Amino acid sequence: MIQITIDGVSCTCKKGEKLLAVARRNNIFIPTLCHHDGLPGMGSCRLCVVEVTESGRTKVVVSCLYPVRGEIEVVTNSERILAHRKMILALLRKRAPKSDVIAHMCEAFGAPDLPVASFDGGKCILCGLCVRACDLIGAGSVATRTLLKKLAGQGCAYPVAGAGVIAMVSRGTTKTVSTPYDEPSEICIGCGGCANVCPTGEITVTETETGRTIWGKEFKFAFCKECGELLGTDKEVRYAAQRSGRDPDFLCPACRQKRSADAMAEPFGRR
Ligand code: SF4
Ligand code: SF4
Ligand code: FES
Repeated sequence: MIQITIDGVSCTCKKGEKLLAVARRNNIFIPTLCHHDGLPGMGSCRLCVVEVTESGRTKVVVSCLYPVRGEIEVVTNSERILAHRKMILALLRKRAPKSDVIAHMCEAFGAPDLPVASFDGGKCILCGLCVRACDLIGAGSVATRTLLKKLAGQGCAYPVAGAGVIAMVSRGTTKTVSTPYDEPSEICIGCGGCANVCPTGEITVTETETGRTIWGKEFKFAFCKECGELLGTDKEVRYAAQRSGRDPDFLCPACRQKRSADAMAEPFGRR
């Protein structure tokens, strides 16, 4: 275990633990945008910068990526750090002029209004979190695409595009996140994972009682056939079943458990 100080508070952590995680565990606030606890660090927004002093030398580091390796002193809100954050937010506001989240953060942190034109963009800050989420938890992952290709070869219902569901497209001022050719993707399963992790609400999801629309495509909801609980989109349920090598049973975990318990009890006449 290593002993470090953050804003004068003594904190204990494991070697290699990320500085942001240590701060959060000790209830010390560091603002973030591109960080999600369930995903590897992106390090793209730079909002979580802090000052680290080690062996008498002070440097600015990105706390969500910085692994603690020895005794250090950390300051999260020095004049230099606050100035960095203001400038980062001011630039993000130019990149994402329609984002309320960025606008509120700019106000809260006192970011200056830079005398340069805003991008034509919407709310996207190009952090890449949605692409990472889709790759790791959604249908865009290499493992999943391999699986889908194999299933397609076996006559699976899912056609395979051979590329991620979403990716950074275009460049410069028009750079954004989208599906290939801005068309509804054949391999998207409508899980909504990308929208859930987006820090600025850029990804539009609309839901009715019967389905969800995302990335220009409508997905039908599937419900538990015993109790009627919402399971997710139909594609999501089928995809999860195929990944675990079984037929989709359209049961919620509680009803599936009950059914297994009933099946086990049946030979003993206890149903
Ligand atoms: S909704 Fe589609 S694009 Fe978004 S994470 Fe799920 S599979 Fe990927
Ligand atoms: S859509 Fe959201 S999560 Fe994706 S890059 Fe833009 S801001 Fe980040
Ligand atoms: S939260 Fe650390 S770089 Fe974005």
